[in-house]
Formats: sequence, structure tokens, C-alpha cells
Amino acid sequence: MKNINEHQKTDCTKYVSGRATLIAPSGIRKFFDLLSGMEGVISLGVGEPDYTTPWHIRESAIHSIEKGMTMYTSNSGMPELRQALAGFLANKYNLKYDSHSEILITVGVSEALDLAMRAILNPGDEVIMADPHYVAYDASVMLAEGVPVLVPTYESNNFEITAADIEKKITKRTKAILLGYPSNPTGAVLEKKQLEQIAEVARRHKLLVISDEIYSRLVYGVEHTCFATLPGMKEQTLFLSGFSKAYAMTGWRVGYAAGNKEIIGAMTKIHQYTIMSAPTMAQVAALEALKSGEKDIEEMVADYDRRRKFIVKGLREIGLPCFEPRGAFYAFPSIKSTGMTSGEFSEKLLMEEKVAVVHGTAFGPSGEGYVRCCYATSMSDLEEALVRMRRFLEKHRK
Ligand SMILES: Cc1ncc(COP(=O)(O)O)c(C=O)c1O
Repeated sequence: MKNINEHQKTDCTKYVSGRATLIAPSGIRKFFDLLSGMEGVISLGVGEPDYTTPWHIRESAIHSIEKGMTMYTSNSGMPELRQALAGFLANKYNLKYDSHSEILITVGVSEALDLAMRAILNPGDEVIMADPHYVAYDASVMLAEGVPVLVPTYESNNFEITAADIEKKITKRTKAILLGYPSNPTGAVLEKKQLEQIAEVARRHKLLVISDEIYSRLVYGVEHTCFATLPGMKEQTLFLSGFSKAYAMTGWRVGYAAGNKEIIGAMTKIHQYTIMSAPTMAQVAALEALKSGEKDIEEMVADYDRRRKFIVKGLREIGLPCFEPRGAFYAFPSIKSTGMTSGEFSEKLLMEEKVAVVHGTAFGPSGEGYVRCCYATSMSDLEEALVRMRRFLEKHRK
């Protein structure tokens, strides 16, 4: 007779859906599982601020718990937070959203992306996006049974997606263009003129633009243009943003979507059945973050800018050409001169010098030949990482 452990050996892959099989595990997570348990690693890997959330934001959440605010909020999110966001968007961008029907609070931009794709895509619908791109972009499209259509972008063109290249990819099945600027992983920013050209294509082909502006506050020497502010684009844009990056709040899991009420309504239905509401104490903290204005952000941005200049200069000095990132907190140097693939480079660098960077191909095929270095880490770690990388390059330079 079989014992219970043998019964447990059933091959469970047969239970896994085609949809879940189709997507690969996140290239970033897979790599970071490798380094967990290794001592003395300097990580330029995971894309999150090294700051702790400012104290007054943490304290507001603690107070909310003390006051017993431990229930669900409205499915769409706390009315006060939605109203504050409507006020913020009106003040900052002159965009008027109805806080009742046109703003949805989500569990990070991650959930907003997933909801957006499930709300708009029928099987086989296409979404155009830049390559390289944030890891969840193609996955969220595929999970909604859509088809990601990649537009390669190149260092020679500052990793900027162009309206002309987007237009070439439009077919009868194209439903949306997904933009993520400032870009993870390249740090590229699109200027107003380029965005206007993309808006013109979107209007002409009646395409929805999903604009992930999570890094909008982290720009250096350029002004961020909010896509929905472009002429005629408010109705045709789904604006996504959140608190993770600008306020150093990755672990709180709060983001939001603002857009046309039909789309927000469809997203809210899915959110109602899957999430109910974003965590209450985290929404309280997000409200406090919004109320606190720009001071916290300005200090962090000034600091990131110092580190950005330092790492770009340092990478160039050790012989890795590096495109100048103008947003987010990533440098994306070329490692082509080593003759290694980006996967080989990042794995060897981790094993031999204990520096973790992410292979460019984690962000799509056009990331080959590059690695992503997150510089939201201390200056001393950046300095030491560069020393180790120089040693590594001296050893491996062809
Ligand atoms: C471009 C981009 N969009 C969305 C996200 C997800 O952010 P959140 O923490 O709000 O889910 C990230 C996180 O790294 C990101 O880089």
C-alpha cells in the first residue's frame, strides 16, 4: 500500500493553466534568489529606494491602528485619499478627475497594471510597448490573454520609443499603447514634443494610452510631462502612478489609476472581487504622504541626482559606456565590450566580485548587451561596487 507521502508526489503541473505556464518567472526575482544567503554582496539589483519611509508617514499609519482603523475601506479606496489625489492632480497638472468615479486606489501600480489589462483586453488584443521595458508589462498583457507587441529601442536613440516606430506596429488588433517614462530599466525620459507625436498617433488610430508614471517625480534636469495633459488625451489615457518610489513606500503597496469612468469602473469591478480594498493603514500613510507636499521628495531627488552623476561617471571611467539616464534611479551601461551576454556578465560578477546587477534581458530581448544598476543605494556601496567592477573588467576584458 502506498504511504501518504507517495500520494503527494502527483505531478501537479497538469493543474497549472496555460496562461500561467506561458509567462516566465520574473528575471529579477530568479536572479535574486541566487544571491540570498550570500554574504558581503553589494546589491545594485532590486529597484527600490534605500530610504526608510519618512517618519511622519509611518507615524500616521501607527496612529490609525491605535485608533482602531482596521476595517476594509470603500472598494475604490478611502474617499479622503481619492479626494486628495484629485486635488493633487488638479494642482500639479490641471487635470480634473471625479474622485468618486474616475480614481481607483490599488495595491501598487502592479495591481493597477493587471486590472487595466484585464479590463480592456479581449483574447488576442495587442498592446504596444517599448523594449526593454518594466518586467510586468508584457506579463500583465499575457495574463489577460493579450499579445505584447515590442518596439525595440536603442542606446543610439537614447532608448526613446518613437511615434513612427509605434505606428508601424499598429494592426487591427491593437488596443493600447503602454508607456513607462521615466523608464525602468533605462532611465530614459520622453520630452513633451515626442509625447505629442505619440498622442497624435493614438488619437488618429483611436488607441488607449496606458501611461505608467510611477517615476514622474524622479527626474533630473528635465521636466516630466504627464501624458493625460496633452491636447485631447485625457479621455484616451489611463494614468497610473503610486507612492512606492517617490515617497520610499515600496512595502506599503499603494498605487492608483485615474481615467475615464467606464475604464475605471471596469477595473473597479475586478478589484472588488479580487482585492476588495488596498490595506487601510497604508492608505492612511499615503494620504499623509500627499499632504506633506514636496519637501521629502525634493531631498531624496537631490540625493539620487548626486548618486546618478557619480555612478554614470564611474561606469564610464572603468570602461563601460553608459547612456545618461534622466529619470528613475537606474543606470543601464553597455557591457558589450566584454564579449559576455548580459546573463553571463551579471552571474559572473555576482559569483566573482559579489556585486549584483540585473541582466538587461530580464527586461526584454533589446536589453541584451546591457545590465541595470540601481543607484538608490549608499555612496559608499556605489564606490565599492565600482572598485569591484573595475577589478572584474580588468580580469575579463578581451
Ligand atoms: C515602471 C514600474 N512600474 C510599476 C512598478 C510597480 O510598482 P508598485 O510598487 O507601485 O507596485 C515598478 C516597480 O519597480 C516599476 O518600476
